[in-house]
Amino acid sequence: MAKIAPSILSADFSGLLDEIEKIEKGGGDYIHVDVMDGHFVPNITYGAPILKCLNGKTALPYDVHLMIENPDAHIEDFVMPNTEFIVVHQEACVHLDRTIEYIKSFGKKAGVALNPSTLPETLEYVIDKLDLVVAMSVNPGFAAQKFIPSSLEKIELLSEIRTDYELDFLIEVDGGVSLENAEALISAGADILVAGNSIFSADDPVDMIRKFKEL
Ligand code: DX5
Ligand code: ZN
Repeated sequence: MAKIAPSILSADFSGLLDEIEKIEKGGGDYIHVDVMDGHFVPNITYGAPILKCLNGKTALPYDVHLMIENPDAHIEDFVMPNTEFIVVHQEACVHLDRTIEYIKSFGKKAGVALNPSTLPETLEYVIDKLDLVVAMSVNPGFAAQKFIPSSLEKIELLSEIRTDYELDFLIEVDGGVSLENAEALISAGADILVAGNSIFSADDPVDMIRKFKEL
């Protein structure tokens, strides 16, 4: 059964704690936190202060997705008790091996996200160090975009690499995930599904999370 990481990018920030409670009630496994800097992606969202205000108010682990340039300068800001994954973009890291080691030096799990056009082979020399590989199934920067079908192939390839090299990184799919495509993603090898719009735009987000969990 796949784990669900609702993205709060689509949540109502005027009642963030209520939205977090919906994730808890629905049985969501992580809070997916989309940090955007307006440079690496054409949108600006939020930073560590938003997460800090949640500390002590939820037990849910944070899946921090850094869509920012020069992530090394900001990684420490996101090291908090609930932080489980810190994910950087392959395309944003000049020294990816060093960045991965840096994340792990804080005792946090290291993830690398690949944009839709980036090959998994670019991770060849670091993949054995990773706890998580995120296959972006939309071009990062916005919620509620259309799922890019070639992402399915990338998930299958990542799953093969994991088996062939006897590795244990988790595979996460991020962008345009819905009940319609979730089962195919899980059978292709996805362990964690990120969903923002399909959950928070639903009439009943709690029930929607429950439906994802039942897949
Ligand atoms: C996009 C973000 C995704 C997005 C997912 O750049 O990384 O996490 O918020 O949201 P939906 O499910 O709406 O595509
Ligand atoms: Zn994301």
